[in-house]
Amino acid sequence: YVFESAEDLARHVARIVAGVISERNALGQNAVLGLPTGSTPTGVYRELIRLHREEGLDFSGVITFNLDEYYGLAPDAFQSYHQWMNENFFRHVNIPAENIHIPRGDVSPAEIDNYCRDYESAIERAGGLDIVILGIGRNGHIGFNEPFSSRNSRTRLCTLDPVTRRAAASDFFGEWNVPTQAITMGLGTIFEARKILLLALGEHKAGIIKELTEGSVTPRVPASYLQEHTDATVLVDTAAACKL
Ligand code: GLP
Repeated sequence: YVFESAEDLARHVARIVAGVISERNALGQNAVLGLPTGSTPTGVYRELIRLHREEGLDFSGVITFNLDEYYGLAPDAFQSYHQWMNENFFRHVNIPAENIHIPRGDVSPAEIDNYCRDYESAIERAGGLDIVILGIGRNGHIGFNEPFSSRNSRTRLCTLDPVTRRAAASDFFGEWNVPTQAITMGLGTIFEARKILLLALGEHKAGIIKELTEGSVTPRVPASYLQEHTDATVLVDTAAACKL
């Protein structure tokens, strides 16, 4: 889907997410969301907050799992995704704290494998992901699954691509300060979601959006595996669609 503006796209995506939440609420069940960070989804979070405040959208039964976190950053670190999610979404809506899951970047190396397995088990216990929202890196990564990540990968510690570290440089006052590793939900984990929405805004994403939608399925572009998912949708603004 191509939208005239980022605001139109955000409204559309928020309506879809709100639909999933309301449906589950009506059945007395939990809606399980997979959530991203980054500049792309900020409008969606703003719109969901508006729906909560103005239309009474109830998040009390929502369970969330974030896609990723930088390794080496404690939850209270300024650039952590924990902080980002609190600022941009969680502190504005009524999701119970115990329903919020974000990988911790301060797990010790000895604990990491168990920790990642527990993250997977928590998703399973929640009933699996109803809907995952994704952004995309310029190299085709989703979450922090960089090019050549395994199609069946699970939540794990991974090494960041130089392209990804460069893109994050401004958040860390220089590329050399950007962590070299991250914890990410795996491609296999993400693709088990019942519904996936991948969002992209701006001309700098136009090249990768063309590869993702018109190119072949290739491990060089992890997001291209979405072509094989039964319910995956790509939503972009006109700038990100300009090479299609
Ligand atoms: C980071 C995140 C991804 C996100 C990507 C794009 O690498 N780990 O989940 O999709 O950045 O970010 P932006 O939306 O700011 O372009």
